[in-house]
Parts: sequence; structure tokens; C-alpha cells
Amino acid sequence: MEQEKLHDLLQSLTLQEKIGQLIQLSGEFFDATDISLGPQRKLGITQEAVDLAGSVLNVAGAKEVKRIQDIHLRQGGHPIPLLFMADVIYGYKTVYPIPLGIGATWDPALVERAYTNTADEARASGLQVSFAPMVDLVRDPRWGRVLESTGEDPYLNSRFAAAMVKGFQKNLAAGSGLVSCVKHFAAYGAAEAGREYNPADLSTPTLFQDYLPSYKAAIDAGVKMVMTSLTTLNGVPATADKWLLQDILRKRWGFDGVIISDYASVYELIKHGFAQDSTDAAAKALTAGVDIDMKSPCYANGLQPLVENGHLSEAKIDDAVWRVLTLKNKLGLFEHPYGGATEEREHAQTLTPEKRSLARDLSRKALVLLKNNENLLPLNPHGNQRVALIGPYADEQELLGLWAVHGERKDTVTIKAGFSEYLPAQQLQIAKGTDIIRDRAMLEKMGVSAEQIGHIISGSNTEQSNHDQALAIAKNADIIVFAAGEHTLQSGEAGSRTRLRLPDNQRQLLAELRKLNKPIVLIVISGRPLVLTDVQDQADAILQAWFPGTEGGHAIADVIFGRYNPTGRLSMTFPYDEGQLPLYYNHLSTGRPENHSQHSGRFVSRYIDNPNKPLYPFGYGLSYGSVQYGELKLDSDTLAAAGRDELTAAISVTNTGTVPREETVQFYIHDQVASIVQPVKRLIGFQKVPVQPGETKTAALTITPDMLSFANRDGEFITEPGMFDLFARPNSQDVHQTSFSLTE
Ligand code: NOJ
Repeated sequence: MEQEKLHDLLQSLTLQEKIGQLIQLSGEFFDATDISLGPQRKLGITQEAVDLAGSVLNVAGAKEVKRIQDIHLRQGGHPIPLLFMADVIYGYKTVYPIPLGIGATWDPALVERAYTNTADEARASGLQVSFAPMVDLVRDPRWGRVLESTGEDPYLNSRFAAAMVKGFQKNLAAGSGLVSCVKHFAAYGAAEAGREYNPADLSTPTLFQDYLPSYKAAIDAGVKMVMTSLTTLNGVPATADKWLLQDILRKRWGFDGVIISDYASVYELIKHGFAQDSTDAAAKALTAGVDIDMKSPCYANGLQPLVENGHLSEAKIDDAVWRVLTLKNKLGLFEHPYGGATEEREHAQTLTPEKRSLARDLSRKALVLLKNNENLLPLNPHGNQRVALIGPYADEQELLGLWAVHGERKDTVTIKAGFSEYLPAQQLQIAKGTDIIRDRAMLEKMGVSAEQIGHIISGSNTEQSNHDQALAIAKNADIIVFAAGEHTLQSGEAGSRTRLRLPDNQRQLLAELRKLNKPIVLIVISGRPLVLTDVQDQADAILQAWFPGTEGGHAIADVIFGRYNPTGRLSMTFPYDEGQLPLYYNHLSTGRPENHSQHSGRFVSRYIDNPNKPLYPFGYGLSYGSVQYGELKLDSDTLAAAGRDELTAAISVTNTGTVPREETVQFYIHDQVASIVQPVKRLIGFQKVPVQPGETKTAALTITPDMLSFANRDGEFITEPGMFDLFARPNSQDVHQTSFSLTE
């Protein structure tokens, strides 16, 4: 529709119709059956508000979308189609590894392609907006939603944020992409103590330097929507934070797209103690800049009286409605209300071999080999060894993780299926051994129904026979592969935990298997970095597999049997102990650093009962074979801040083994003296270097002054002359160091 016509449409709307565009409801509201006694009453809104609502949340499927759109358009009045939005976070029907695994790929280009595939798959299925990427920086694995983040590093997160947004929106103009909605603005990932929905309290430099860059990267990549965080930031709920939404997002960053609240977060302003009642909440959220109220009664009931009583100008409402209508128009919904979705197109796009193949590739790139004593891995698929594949994840399709709401477990490749493609049946025996989790009290606390618990926890006879069978096949085997992990319900939203170990029943079984003195490979399925300290000695090799997605079983088998040489590198620190949390590599230094203090004995910054160091650091991961790094060299030892000066850092990598491998060479910087104390190390670049046996290649990084800037107390980025340390090599700990100076 032409701009002028769109404008006329806006002018022709009644106040109530305009407000409708700012209301988002979930699918059950649009059911043909009488909703007045159900969801509508629960939310406390009128039938008219439902009829006029502008968008729908989490309804998918070409048929269902068409049905609801038809009902809506039949209602009469102004024919403004509904906009369909949903959580398509890491795949749609073809599900990728969880974003924490995606972070471990260090491969934004591949991720961009994957997200384009997802957009095409989801759009054909009737969706138009995805509530992704989630780009919240995370430092505390107690928080269940670390699953949805690409990790703890602002630079890496920014690269992935941009890639995901571009991937989603790439084919928009051609009518097949998805509008991307970046979330949760801002700093949801800093929820205190890792407890879900807890406040975030951050200094301005930390906020700007660490937490905001990934959202900014999404804005720069052209994201069209932003979702607010459910939490407070420095005492103000993000959903009503004028400073965040107006001063930073709109004015400083120039964002002109739609801002949507998170689920019920406008209403929750009351619970936060920031708004008196739902009308006050509506006024505060809209004035702060929230255009669409997701699933709360506040805009539906509060905005009209606010305008009529003169407390809110209709022009403010018009601005918000204009942004919503513009988005609908860009999507072509006025001409094609189903957004191009048809059942045929959906069928043709869903889970195609090409999409599965890319998912398999992404999934194996996400796997991180944490330990590999005496090169136990890869296993030889042509050897005669007998493998006992044991554990609750050995033959389990629940490999998608909590936020893959559209993916179907039935389409998932299990580890057993993956292994079976490499080993003949007589060499592969499989036993569950134990349930994933047997903690009934925890499941009850999470609100899991008795019936569901019955599916999760086996009766004691079954458990005993699973256990006996596992030990029997283990005794008969040459190698034990133990597929362990946390339960899907233990991570994701509202999955905060204080103890991050593998479930007790799994650890007990592993300890028993260890007594058989056979080589053990441990595969860990999890939505977060678990504390593996007490199991790491019980296994000779450990493969961190996250929730690996639809093609998970294939990907794991490809790595275990050496078809793919693992390249995954951690994008989040694995702690040694829960008591160290939050723990992240890019922390500030203290006046009494552990190994460099003038104080000896007691008075240095450390724990007296545990190390400061993590179990596995950021950037860490093993590959098969071996490499040798050369010296880190600079082509100049000074860089001038003024002008367009640059210097190049280079380091050689030689493959000293017998198999091809790919190194992810990481470059870190440390500003020795600055007016705001700087992190001991922070990533400024990386390069993937494939090297053949015997081959030497050079990884290089061009450093410019802006890469050395940091945020001051006003949240502005500045550079200061002085000395900088540069580090490079395969992870954030095992680095080689040189230095250079930045001059005026
Ligand atoms: C609440 C979650 O915080 C958010 O990430 C999600 O997009 C919405 N619910 C909609 O499902």
C-alpha cells in the first residue's frame, strides 16, 4: 500500500481501533468457540478488544494462521490483518543446537545461512515475526536462559546478533523472510544471582561496554523490532524505562521500528512497584516508548480513558500505531494477509534434506571436545571394538531444549541412530541405565503434572532393570559411551538452579561404570555450562553437546567416529564450582590479583577453598591431531589514535598431526592503564584457519584505534593513549603476549 493510503487508513481509525493495533494476544483468544469464559475473562478484557487486536503470539502453521486471519478479517470494520509473531529462536521445524552451542561454532556466516533457512521455513508456515535473536550477554550459568544466549563475550555476541538478524530478514523483500525482533532490551542476562526475573544492577561503563553492544549490533544490522526485558535495570523496569527506550534506543541509536513489551511485562510494572494500577502502567509504558503490549490488559483497558481524560495525547498513540501499520505494510499483509503461507509451500519448505544437512553441519560445529586423554577419540568405525552406548540420552529424541517450541521430537535423530550408521549392530549395544532425572520434588516444584512425572521417572523395578542391563552390556564392551545430561525442564526460562551438577542418579551410575576400568567417553547434553568437576576424572573423553537439535544424533556420531574433526570453542566459561559464580574471562583486575600481588599469603583476591580459575575457560575446545603456534608478531609497535591508522598482528599455525583440522585463532586485548579500569583480557577478533597436515598458515588481525575504545561513565566510547597488551592463540587462557602503544 502506498504511504499516503496507509496514512489515510490511520486517519480513518477510531481511537479504539487504533489501540487495537497495540494489543497482542495469544492464539486461544481467536478461537471460534466462546472465549468469554476462558482466556478473555482471565485477562480481563472485552470482546471488542479481542476483535480489534493487531497481532497474535505463538500461533503457527499455514492452516491455523489462515483460519485465524479469516475469522479476524470477517469481523468487519477496518480490514487490518493480524500480524503473526512467535518464538523461533534457534530453528523452526528444523531445530539447530541451542544458541549457547551456536556461540561455540564461532561461525557467524554459517549461522546467517541457517537463520535464512529458518525464516523461509517459518514464513511458509504463516509466521511473520520471530522473537529472536535473544542477545542478552550472560555470565552466570545458574540462570536457565543462558541456553538462549550466544555467551559471555560482547564482541562474539555482536557478531552473532548481526548474523541472525541478517539471516532472518534476508529474503523479506522477496516475501519469504521473517521480521526479526531482538530481545530482551536490556541486560536481562544480568539477573542478579542468576535467579529468574531478578533485577539487574550495572554500572554505566559495564552496561555500555559489555551488555549493550549486541543489541546495538542488531540495530545496525537492520532489525525491525525490539522487545523489552521483564526485569529492572538500575531500579527502573525496562518496559517503562524512557532513558533506555527513548534516549538510547531511539535517539542515540536511531531505531525507528516497533518496540514490544515482553509477556505481561506492562502489567508487571504494578508488581515491580513502579505503577499504581493497570492504567498507570499503560501510561508509563506507552510514554516510555512501548508500542505493543504483549498479553496484558493494560493497553486494552487503560489507553482509551487516558486519552479521553487528557492524560495522554492521541498523537502518541498515532505514532505507535503508525509504526505497527508500517511494519504490516512492509510485509505486504494488506495485499497478502496470509503472508504468502500456504500448506503446499509449508510442506515444501519443512525439514528438507538441504535444511537438515545445514543443521547437521551447524550442530557438529557446536560440539566442544573438552577432554580427550590419550586420543581415545575418535573411535575407529572400522575397528572391531564393541561399544556400549549407555545413559538416558542414548536413545532419546528430547534433544531440542526448552525453547524449540515448534520443533517436533519425532523428527529428531537420536544418538543411537547416529551411532548405528557407523557401527554394525553386533558391535553396538544400548541401554538407558537410568532416567534423566529422578528428583520428584524438583519436578513438582516446577509445576510438572503427576502424569508427566510418571513419564519422566520410572518405577523402581524398571529403574533397577535399566541399571542392571547397563552394567551387563558395559562388562561386555571395550568402550563405554555414556550419554548424560540435564533434563530439558531444568534449563530455559524459569530454569534457574543453584547446583549445576549432573543429576545424582546419573553420577552414581557413571561411578559404577568407572569401576569396570574401561575407557569411558562422556557426552553431556545440557542447556548451560554444568559443573563437571566431579565427573571429569570419571571419563577419559568428554564431549559437550548442548541440546544439539534435530540432527543432534548425526552430529555427535560424526565427531565421535572422526568424520568431523571438532572445532567447537566455548563461548561461556565452565566453572569449577558454583560458588565462583558469576565467573567470566573478561573481568576487571583487582588491586591484589592472585598471582601478581605484592602481598603474600592470605590477603590476595582468591577463594580459600577453591581455585579462581574455571574448569574450562572461554574460547577453549580440543580438536583431533595437533598444532603448533608461532610467535605473535606485530608489523609496528605503535598505532596513532588520530586518522585511519592501523597495525597488523599475525601468528602462524602449523598442523603437526596427521589429520586436517581447523584452528580458531583468538585475539585478545588488554589496556594496561586507563581512566576506567579495563578487563584483564577482551576478545577483539578471531580467525578460522583450516590447516592440512604439515601445512603452516598465518592468522592475521588488523587493529584500528576504535577497537581499543572503552565506555566511560557517560556511556560514551573513548580511546586513551597508552600501552596495550595483545594476546593470541587457541583460547582465553593459553595465550601468547606482545604489546604496542597507542599514541595521540
Ligand atoms: C516470555 C519470554 O521472556 C520471551 O522471550 C518470549 O519471546 C515471550 N515470552 C513470548 O513467548
